[in-house]
Amino acid sequence: MSQQVNLAIVGCGSMTYNAHAPWINSTSEIRVAALCDTDRAAAEKLRRDRFKDDAQIAIFEDWRDLLKRRPAGIAGVLFATPHTQHYEQCMAALDQGWHVLVEKPMVTNSAHARQIIHKAQEKVLQVQVAFQAPFSAEHVHIREFIARGGLGELQAAGGFVFQDWRRPGHGTWRQDPAAAGGGFIYDSGAHLLNAWNYLIGRPAASVHAMISNKGLAVEVNGAVNIRYQGGVLASAVLCGNSVGWQEGIWLAGERGRIHTGIHGGRIEVWDQHGRQLPDPQITATHYTPPQNFAHSLLGLAAPRAPARLGLLHCLLMEALYKSAANGCEVAVEQE
Ligand SMILES: NC(=O)c1ccc[n+]([C@@H]2O[C@H](COP(=O)([O-])OP(=O)(O)OC[C@H]3O[C@@H](n4cnc5c(N)ncnc54)[C@H](O)[C@@H]3O)[C@@H](O)[C@H]2O)c1
Repeated sequence: MSQQVNLAIVGCGSMTYNAHAPWINSTSEIRVAALCDTDRAAAEKLRRDRFKDDAQIAIFEDWRDLLKRRPAGIAGVLFATPHTQHYEQCMAALDQGWHVLVEKPMVTNSAHARQIIHKAQEKVLQVQVAFQAPFSAEHVHIREFIARGGLGELQAAGGFVFQDWRRPGHGTWRQDPAAAGGGFIYDSGAHLLNAWNYLIGRPAASVHAMISNKGLAVEVNGAVNIRYQGGVLASAVLCGNSVGWQEGIWLAGERGRIHTGIHGGRIEVWDQHGRQLPDPQITATHYTPPQNFAHSLLGLAAPRAPARLGLLHCLLMEALYKSAANGCEVAVEQE
């Protein structure tokens, strides 16, 4: 394989325009070969504003047509489309022999997640989920610090995500259960819950959740308690009907405490005496999702956010919704 990966992007909306395109433009190992959006104007605007109106970038309105034609020997595809489309799109791309980077949540159903994992193994292809946390140097650092006992035995985690999600999402696919597969917790809360799955490094055993729709067809607020294997307890407050954006994660062990952001960012550490230490020196590589995807296809790096994280998230969400409906603690199905 050459030292550049040709990628296609399906879904040229906000996340691609504001995040993936700038990330890709800062990665010399990626060449965008095709853009696809059912709204052709969105693909054209993206090509014009973010990719210098490069006429070599083919534009498609139908992702199946893109997969069938495979222009420019494309190796992989980024799907940044509404959630419940991800399953069919990922499976079709894998069937065509394409590696996949899919936006979070990978899918909204654990049976679908298992099928994607199985298909990727069968075809020897990569599927990564674009949750930012595992790509960040900070979360890699914290995960390793916890794994080598830096906090002593891990006891508990706390976290919150407060976001102005309800108003801007009004009337969009995000608040339509058929398109989104869930509400604020499946969409933005996903970052916090995935970060815990990644950092705590052991499966969730059970969950006890309360959710509130506040008149929407999907949940907008949630209070979620999780019991991880090994007795680590976690509690999250997720509010999609607030203002602006604020979030954070705390991890408490018997010999220390850490605070950071759900995507990474500053790490604050307290030692076994409760004293705050200087911020740690981070040596792990920081990646953006498309950069790590390209590097892993080129054999330059290990994949940071494999499809397994997408499955863990689905299993947790299924138990969470069951718990909220039944009002009791519900066991999380294991991998
Ligand atoms: N990682 C993050 O921090 C983050 C942040 C925002 C969104 N996202 C994720 O990115 C994905 C897209 O979200 P968004 O905010 O960009 O939404 P958006 O509504 O702004 O964009 C979605 C785009 O997909 C296009 N589209 C819909 N169906 C399509 C199809 N069948 N084929 C081709 N194009 C199609 C739409 O026309 C639109 O342009 C979602 O999975 C979302 O959860 C992730």
